[in-house]
Amino acid sequence: PPLDNVINLHDFEVVARTVLPEKAWAYYSSASDDEITLRENRMAYQRVWFRPRILRNVDQVDWSTSILGVKSSLPVYISATALGKLGHPDGEICLTRAAAKHGVIQMIATLASCSFDDIIDAAAPGQEFFLQLYVNRDREITRKYVQHAEQRGVKGLFITVDAPQLGRREKDMRMKFVGDDAGAEVQKGHEVKKDQGVARAISSFIDPTLSWKDIPWFRKITRMPIILKGIATAEDAILAYESGVQGIVLSNHGGRQLDTSRSGIEVLVEVVSALRLRGYFPSPNFEIYVDGGVRRASDVLKAIALGAKAVGVGRPFLYAFCAYGQDGVERAIQIFREEFEMNMRLLGARTLDELVPEMVDASALTSH
Ligand code: FNR
Repeated sequence: PPLDNVINLHDFEVVARTVLPEKAWAYYSSASDDEITLRENRMAYQRVWFRPRILRNVDQVDWSTSILGVKSSLPVYISATALGKLGHPDGEICLTRAAAKHGVIQMIATLASCSFDDIIDAAAPGQEFFLQLYVNRDREITRKYVQHAEQRGVKGLFITVDAPQLGRREKDMRMKFVGDDAGAEVQKGHEVKKDQGVARAISSFIDPTLSWKDIPWFRKITRMPIILKGIATAEDAILAYESGVQGIVLSNHGGRQLDTSRSGIEVLVEVVSALRLRGYFPSPNFEIYVDGGVRRASDVLKAIALGAKAVGVGRPFLYAFCAYGQDGVERAIQIFREEFEMNMRLLGARTLDELVPEMVDASALTSH
């Protein structure tokens, strides 16, 4: 269908499903075990209700923000999704070009199909990136990778902490891996297992010994802000703050890791209240992000009202470029813009700062 017929982010998934090879669809769409967390990521947003304010002169509304001090035209960043070339010959570069045009930040995946340097080389002047990191058992490889990224101007290091082992994505496991040199520079020396799906094939280098004790080492090797991606409890949010990192992503990896873990938006409520109690929130040096199941600007506004600085979006951008290349991603961004404008007017919030907790009723969020 022509791109003009795509009017919301869900539409990209419908189109992607019809155009993607079976293997790509299985890898992208799958989540772990019974996919209960995947479904919950959507359902949780439906348990949060708005409390809109009226008569506030909402002629001008502005949804721009900054993330880790980097300007962003949306309170949304493109979250890392691996293996973009399974679904489009240009892979992640489609995201890069669209992000450049619209002032959106792309998080580059360690396991991107395009090499890190190819992505950075495709950037527009002044375009900013974050890097998602899977930590190699061989720390020398990780050190070089991180320092190279810093040298090339990356503005934030998102260390994935919810994947000491990859989840069982059964749809994907039924497929045989064919080969992609994703993350070649970080994979060295690790056997690629080809008979258990794409995810298993590419993840054997990831270090399950990673622990809180490693955080000072990361601090030593880079000046980039460090963000832990995949925090799921208030306890770990407190440890993260006390470890001195600059932020956390409340995430369950798009439902692809521990099944029946809670949605990021639900975790946000307990995290903000626990951090507030200790005087850790709000803080100018510590930002909280949420990802998983965000498909509408209204979802984003709910997360921001509850204390998130921005949200990550994975599959919708991935599906958008698989179906329509760069144009699809641009359309996805435009849809977000239109939805932000309307929703902020109807909510009575002219800027993101005016989105206060009183604008949502989250009392049903924790009752399932
Ligand atoms: C991911 N995600 C992910 N996260 C990460 O830290 N490293 C990775 O390599 C990947 N790869 C990846 C591949 C695919 C196909 C998907 C769908 C997701 C997780 C991603 O960054 C993000 O947390 C979720 O995608 C957010 O959920 P939604 O927006 O997809 O619902």
